[in-house]
Amino acid sequence: MTDTNHSVALAFEDGVTRFINVAPGQTVADASYRARINIPLDCRDGACGTCKAFCESGKYDGGDYIEDALTDDEADAGYCLPCQMTPESDLVLRISGTAEMAKSGVGQFTATIEKLHWYADNTAGLTLVVEDREKLAYLPGQYMNVKVPGTDEERSYSFSSGPDAGKLTFLVRTAPDGVMTTYLKERAAEGDTLTLEGPKGSFFLRDVKRPVLMLAGGTGIAPQLAMLEKLKDSAESGDAPGFPIHLAYGATWDKDLVEVEVLERYAAAIPGFTFDTIVADAGSEHPKKGYVTQHLLPEHLNDGDVDVYLCGPPAMVDAVRRYFDGEGIVPANFYYERFAVGVNAPALAGAAA
Ligand SMILES: Cc1cc2nc3c(=O)[nH]c(=O)nc-3n(C[C@H](O)[C@H](O)[C@H](O)COP(=O)(O)OP(=O)(O)OC[C@H]3O[C@@H](n4cnc5c(N)ncnc54)[C@H](O)[C@@H]3O)c2cc1C
Ligand code: FES
Repeated sequence: MTDTNHSVALAFEDGVTRFINVAPGQTVADASYRARINIPLDCRDGACGTCKAFCESGKYDGGDYIEDALTDDEADAGYCLPCQMTPESDLVLRISGTAEMAKSGVGQFTATIEKLHWYADNTAGLTLVVEDREKLAYLPGQYMNVKVPGTDEERSYSFSSGPDAGKLTFLVRTAPDGVMTTYLKERAAEGDTLTLEGPKGSFFLRDVKRPVLMLAGGTGIAPQLAMLEKLKDSAESGDAPGFPIHLAYGATWDKDLVEVEVLERYAAAIPGFTFDTIVADAGSEHPKKGYVTQHLLPEHLNDGDVDVYLCGPPAMVDAVRRYFDGEGIVPANFYYERFAVGVNAPALAGAAA
């Protein structure tokens, strides 16, 4: 550990740079918090990867974390976790997110379940009416931590509603004996009160400056729906994206494909938006079978001049990343969210920034 303070430059995506002073042994995240700069954070424990940043210069101790949060390849390439890292020199960090976003803090909200809808036995849709809705500003693609009623556990869910929607919607894929799953299947009722904390995450739609490729696995379609809702709203107010946007949406079984009619409406409303649905089950009669990567065309990849948004279960996200590596395709920007299970976020109390 060094015994002097270090200056850390936090360079945000919108070109704004903020400086913080980090005391010996202090993490970058703690120093940001004290300076009231809300960089993306969730577990603060090196487990979720939400805070991942890129170090442009300087030396640091990366701290303790798990591979799910930061792979060895990423660490070798210069990526780091501000919630764990302690500077050993002055640093310049590229932060995922905008300075505007870092001004709005994470908050706690109370919501009522207005509707609990089962698309199939393994996928639920939740519609929530949140108190103080006007105080909950989020970016399309971000998520909330939801406390599971009757337990001390919380689970993360990405908004499927656009940021301007009055009611919040979420898609939940069940897991055998899962804590949230058991609540939804056995105890949940319309009218129940939920406590949520957020918004969180750095997986959100950036300005469309080149073709966009969205890849979704299972309920990984949720944040992509929020992004498409935003793009639809923009198109309707005369600000249509000037580039093609393609979504490849994969599912294991036919029954896992949800909200396809909503995607059809987006295809009609957003100029340049196209989508494919793909089912992995070999016994399915779906016209497109296999994995999403088997249905990508050269125009979707655009020789790498494309912004990729990838979201789904960890195995799918990792497989797609390996596919890009194997094909030698380096997208202009690659944003991804892994719907990791078993990431225990800190208790709601005390976690608000
Ligand atoms: C940033 C983020 C956003 C997410 N957004 C979404 C979303 O929009 N929609 C969505 O469906 N999911 C999303 N997830 C996943 C979601 O948070 C939950 O993990 C998922 O819904 C399962 O919750 P559960 O409480 O039902 O299951 P859990 O209680 O978490 O259990 C999950 C599975 O793991 C098994 N398990 C639990 N503990 C152990 C153990 N110790 N050893 C072995 N097996 C174990 C359980 O039996 C179960 O099969 C997101 C995750 C993250 C990190
Ligand atoms: S890994 Fe840093 S906030 Fe979770």
